[in-house]
Order: sequence, then structure tokens, then C-alpha cells
Amino acid sequence: MKTIGLLTSGGDSPGMNAAIRAAAKTCAARGVRLVGVREGYEGLIDGRMVEVVPGPSPLLGETGLDVLGSQGGTILGSARSARFREAGGRARAADALRAAGVDGLVVIGGNGSLTGAHALAREHGVRVMGIPASIDNDIGCTAMAIGTDTALNTIVRACDHVDDTARAHRRAFVVEVMGRACGYLAMASAVAVGADAVLFREQKRDEDAIVQAVAGVVEQGFARGKRRVLIIKAEGVEIPCTRLVRRVEERLPGLEVRAVVLGHIVRGGNPTSLDRLISARLAFTAVMGLLEGATDEMVGWNPPLSGGTATPDGAVKRFPLERVLQETAALEDGSSPVMARRLQLLQQVEGVLPL
Ligand code: F6P
Repeated sequence: MKTIGLLTSGGDSPGMNAAIRAAAKTCAARGVRLVGVREGYEGLIDGRMVEVVPGPSPLLGETGLDVLGSQGGTILGSARSARFREAGGRARAADALRAAGVDGLVVIGGNGSLTGAHALAREHGVRVMGIPASIDNDIGCTAMAIGTDTALNTIVRACDHVDDTARAHRRAFVVEVMGRACGYLAMASAVAVGADAVLFREQKRDEDAIVQAVAGVVEQGFARGKRRVLIIKAEGVEIPCTRLVRRVEERLPGLEVRAVVLGHIVRGGNPTSLDRLISARLAFTAVMGLLEGATDEMVGWNPPLSGGTATPDGAVKRFPLERVLQETAALEDGSSPVMARRLQLLQQVEGVLPL
């Protein structure tokens, strides 16, 4: 294999740049050319590519790869490509790879990006290797996706700030965190910050039940003499924060409730050491996998399920993309044992959180 291509796609996540750096270094060490694709599948369709070399270059400037690992976002750019969802777009993308002499493609991204990689492999025989990257941690066959740890740390810092002002005024706060289809960030951050309650899509509660639960937690919290009550809400819970807060205040005259929507703040920032480490090790094993002849697979970090192919890194295994996508769908619809374990744990935690 002489040339490997690499793209970042879908919602960016902190650690993507660290993965690009590790892939570039691994390729350079193995005498392989690395070509970066601008703006994910959108750029691939138009053949927008740039060589990624370890030293100074038009892409990286004078500092080369050295500063890349500490930066959030993705230096290659990302996109959610509507054109790539069409068969014609994928055919053009495969042509562009052939024209650039790319023998194998590393795809760094979430569910949609990995679905695209699988389609390129199946329909056009492109050799692909996926790397899971999504702050939502909603990808199957990996315990962590790139960016999740940084996002959690950002949420924890934000909640610490909210806590200070909440206690000063004796107020309740509903803090909304990203996670359209997966409540992982809400669940994990609620435990990490010692929130009083957590709301996530997988609980499948209707609006009235949510209002009642939140009002109960707020009322009891202040009745016990607490100075702040903190509720973490996942974006996927459909009731908007403002309406939730208004309805809770209507039920509890005299108590003050405020809402904070963290939104895209959670997706940016310098990656944590854990995210840099995961990114580097996944990128290394992804490139090695392609060089060994593997294709249509994803590298997973400490996979929470059996099977997979061993890699040179004991914490990383490779899984067929077909299985990754099935497991990802099962996480979303709640039929995965991994999700069942998360929910079971949260049910136990729910009795302890408001104390
Ligand atoms: O990266 C995943 C995610 O952060 C979801 O949690 C969120 O709903 C979505 O991206 C937002 O995407 P966009 O920036 O394209 O609106």
C-alpha cells in the first residue's frame, strides 16, 4: 500500500487532530504517503485533497504536526454531506480516490461517517478503516469514541460554574448537554458532577412525567435545605429547557429555576490527555490494519463486547463495520446489552442522586 487517504466527517470532536497527527507519523514511519481529504465526504466528491507530511507544509504551516494534537476541531474540516448519501455521490468519491492513487481510506467520524465508509467498501471495493469519533459516545463496539472524554470534562467545568451561582441565589438549574440520539453525556456527567437528577431520551418519559419528576426533585431538594438543585438534561429529551423550567416554576411558586443550554460549547476545546491517547492509539492501529490488508472494519477502544480481531495494541480490537453499525443501531433503540447495563446502573443511581 503506497498511499493512504484520511478524512474527518460529521460532527467534529476534540481529538480528531491528534488522530490525524498519529496517522501521519505512522504513515511516515512506514514509508507510506498520507493524503488528507478536505471537509469529509463533501470534499472527497470534489477531489479536494492535500498531502499530510510531518514537517512544515501548506496545510500545517511552519510548526508541522507538533502543535496539532492539542487543538480541538479538525484541521481538515468536516461536513455532513447530503450528496454522499446518493449513490452518484459515492461513485464520484470512489473515482476521486482512484484518480489520486489512494489505496486505502481512514474515516474518522460517527455513525453516519462509518455508514458511508461501509457503503464505499461494499459498493466500490474501496479499502476502508473506521475510527470512532463522536462526543455523544453513541458508536457500537468501542467503550469510548474520540471526543467524549473532553466533552465530559467541559460539561463538568460548566456545571461547577453553574453550581457557584446557583448556591449563591438558592436556585435550581436545568443544564442541557448535547446528545441527540444518545443520553451518554447526560448520564455520565450527572454522576461526575453529583447532579440531583438526570433526564435522557432512553427513559422514554412523556412531558408531564418529566415535569412532575423535576418538580419533585427541586421541591424535595430545597425542603432538605439544599442551596442548589442541579438537573442534567440530554438534548434528545424533546421538551425545550425553557418550557420545562416554566412549567416547573408554575408548580412551585416562590422557587427559582433557570436553564442553561451548553450546545456546541461542549463540542470544542483542547482534547484531554485521555482523548489524545485514545486518538493516537486508534489512528496507529487503523493505519496498521490497512497495511496488513484489513478493510471494511473499525478500530474500537476497550470494546465492551466479545469478539473482534486483535491489533498490536492490547486495548484496541478491529470489528467489521457491518457489526459496528448493527451494534450502534441497537444502542440507539435500546436493544443492546451495553445500553441495558447503562440503564440498569442509572436506575440504581437515580435513588442516590437527589440526596
Ligand atoms: O456530534 C454529535 C452532535 O453533537 C449531536 O449531539 C448534536 O445533536 C449534533 O451533533 C449537532 O450537529 P450540528 O452541529 O450539525 O447541528
